[in-house]
Amino acid sequence: MYRIAALHMKVFSSPFSARGEESVYYTAVPWKIRLSPNPFYDRDIVSIKDFSKDDLEFIFDTTDKVSSLKPSERGELGKGRALGYIFYEPSTRTRMSFEAAMASLGGSSIGISDLKSSSVEKGESLADTIRIIDLYSDVIVLRHPLDGSSRFAAELSQNPIINAGSGSEEHPTQALLDLYTILKVKKKIDGLSIAIVGDLKYGRTVYSLLYGLTNYDVDVHLVSPPSLQIRKESIYEVQGKLNIKEHSELEDGVLTDADVIYVTRIQRERFPDLQEYEKVRGTYTIDENTLAKAKPDVAVMHPLPRVDEISQAVDHTKNATYFKQASYGKELRAALLALMLNENLPE
Ligand code: NCD
Repeated sequence: MYRIAALHMKVFSSPFSARGEESVYYTAVPWKIRLSPNPFYDRDIVSIKDFSKDDLEFIFDTTDKVSSLKPSERGELGKGRALGYIFYEPSTRTRMSFEAAMASLGGSSIGISDLKSSSVEKGESLADTIRIIDLYSDVIVLRHPLDGSSRFAAELSQNPIINAGSGSEEHPTQALLDLYTILKVKKKIDGLSIAIVGDLKYGRTVYSLLYGLTNYDVDVHLVSPPSLQIRKESIYEVQGKLNIKEHSELEDGVLTDADVIYVTRIQRERFPDLQEYEKVRGTYTIDENTLAKAKPDVAVMHPLPRVDEISQAVDHTKNATYFKQASYGKELRAALLALMLNENLPE
């Protein structure tokens, strides 16, 4: 199989050796030709669209493997390496789980999460900031309000970039951990019915999740207020790969069908007009009444933070999957970093 990974223009022949297959890849730049069994080594993570189903499964298998390592073995995988990060938008889970993941691999993290204490405040450009972080770290995690920011950064930096949220475009590592969570909780992804509820216009996690789901045979219910429907170009992109139905109400037919309800926050900060936000805030709330109409084993997921979309009463039910999801975030990101930083992982 040949495909061109974005940005570094690496061409991979056979996908992986982890399952015992021969795997060779070489870059399109002839003087960089090298052999490697691990296609994620030194690779940017900009869009989930760059991942095949084999890629996803390889990452999920690696997450299982890295999670089961003894702390001493795990602590070798990032020893002496540094993760550099910069968050131009707030973050709790993404930043902390990357830091925790890197620490568990024996590496360290340096970064900026308070722009006011950085030279961004003095007017330093994204390009210069990335060039500098690139000098001090081995892998760079970037969150930025502009679509395309990570792709831009990846073109500038020598070290790999991980997109930790680019505007309302994508958040690929969130989708990886979302898919991993579904797999862990439901033991499969193929054959499931997944309802995605909330702000489908501005919620970047929704886009990465949808693109990721195109690798599976799933039914998708998209539930949003009419003004927050998924962007049309993305519907065109996934049409034919997913069986999609759009709804404006979280109606009974959706609740009785869904194996997973993936709830999202209305993205207040991305509304050009806050009056429009006021019209849609609080549109959906998942509570015990909602669960009473749903499948008994429905998994309620949320990338978090939640505002008022899921009642706290749900937290104590067996359906609440969002905190487990956040904890898988650390494990999945540790596996991803281990793959990006090591040409070969121990068997
Ligand atoms: C999400 C984000 O930043 O897109 N948060 C996260 O990374 N878990 C979701 C959100 O902010 O609503």
